[in-house]
Amino acid sequence: MDIKAIRGMNDILPDTVAKWHFVEDTARRIFSLYGFTELRPPVLERTELFLRGIGDETDVVEKQMYTFVDKSGDSVTLRPEATASVLRSVIEHSLLNKDPIQKLYSIGPMFRYERPQKGRYRQFHQINAERLGEDGPLADAETLSMAYDLASAILGHDVLLMEVNSLGCQKCRPGFKDALTGFLADRQDRLCEDCRRRMYANPLRVLDCKVESCKEAVEGAPLIEENLCPDCRDHFGAVLTGLSILNVRYEKNPRLVRGLDYYTRTTFEITARGLGSQNAIAGGGRYDNLLSILGGPDVGGIGFAFGMERIIMLMNERAEQVSGCFVVAQPKPEIEQEALGFISELRSSGIRVEAAFGKSFKAQMRRADKAGYPVCAILGENEMASATLTIKDMEHAEQRTVERGAALDDIKSMLIRKGEEK
Ligand code: HAM
Repeated sequence: MDIKAIRGMNDILPDTVAKWHFVEDTARRIFSLYGFTELRPPVLERTELFLRGIGDETDVVEKQMYTFVDKSGDSVTLRPEATASVLRSVIEHSLLNKDPIQKLYSIGPMFRYERPQKGRYRQFHQINAERLGEDGPLADAETLSMAYDLASAILGHDVLLMEVNSLGCQKCRPGFKDALTGFLADRQDRLCEDCRRRMYANPLRVLDCKVESCKEAVEGAPLIEENLCPDCRDHFGAVLTGLSILNVRYEKNPRLVRGLDYYTRTTFEITARGLGSQNAIAGGGRYDNLLSILGGPDVGGIGFAFGMERIIMLMNERAEQVSGCFVVAQPKPEIEQEALGFISELRSSGIRVEAAFGKSFKAQMRRADKAGYPVCAILGENEMASATLTIKDMEHAEQRTVERGAALDDIKSMLIRKGEEK
């Protein structure tokens, strides 16, 4: 067939989907420990939402949005991120009137027209969390800790680096921006075209530019930390104390700025070794003005998003092991029928079970092995004649024969034991 998927948009095939389930399940479990619940906004929104929410000086809005005019003449955009959508939904449904603290997560596809490369796609998936209605620094510390818990539950601590910064607030950031623009003005001949334009409207973005000459030009630039107002400095200090109490390993990075414009005060990123240049697996921060910019109450929030493709690329094989039993039956009608009855018993007691009817004995065993089943139940002529089943432990290549009536309990306890060993 000559019709292919669109560049940068990937099929998630059955052989990796177990990893996706594992990541999603782990996120749901950890987020519920922090009192978060799910909100599912649509993938298509009015373009204006992102123009207002994300900021028109950002790469996302300038270059990356999938925007089109729909049949009714409205300009609509496939969401490039979830934060603006979640906040739109919170405002539209007055959720903060019902409960002044909202802790919400969302999981799903996002769309950015970027140049595809390893770890960077045009359709990608995020696990996104937003916490609204708490201004204090410990809400930030807890939110960062939740992100750290999720990353380390999936990847372990060793490959991770959490970098933290404060971007100040409306009081102290203008002074810092002026100082930075002044610094950059003297070096503008070394800046790329984008940065020469941005250095006036949004000089912080220049700090984040990946072009080599821009990276050199910003060496020695003023640091935001030295320009924070007393409130922002206290807030940042208390966030860091909170992180230490929560045993989150972090590093301060005074040059960390984010690609989206709505952040105030605390910002952070989690990077991982082994991903090449697209090594940010999560990023986020506080946004104290975004709700009111979008027409909601003057309430602050903080959140983050994980890029699921990047986590999945890093995962080890752990999540791919299935728990369950493969039933191997001699390909004869009466034996297969007997096997079918046993399969039904196993499944009724909540055990994942598969078979491959009509295939040779050898082909069935190969399939059980390839699919990663830790246990096989074998039903051949001998077992049929003696009302028994042979149970094979695939990991240890050991087998024994048990009474047909005892087989279900035997398999159950074997699977429990194996689960506990992991
Ligand atoms: P972001 O830093 O733009 O933040 O994206 C978060 C994560 O999504 C990145 O760290 C990366 O792992 C993943 N990601 C972004 N673009 C791509 C891409 N083209 N291909 C693959 N993965 C990608 C946000 O989106 C904010 N809305 C996060 C947030 C929530 N801040 C506050 N609340």
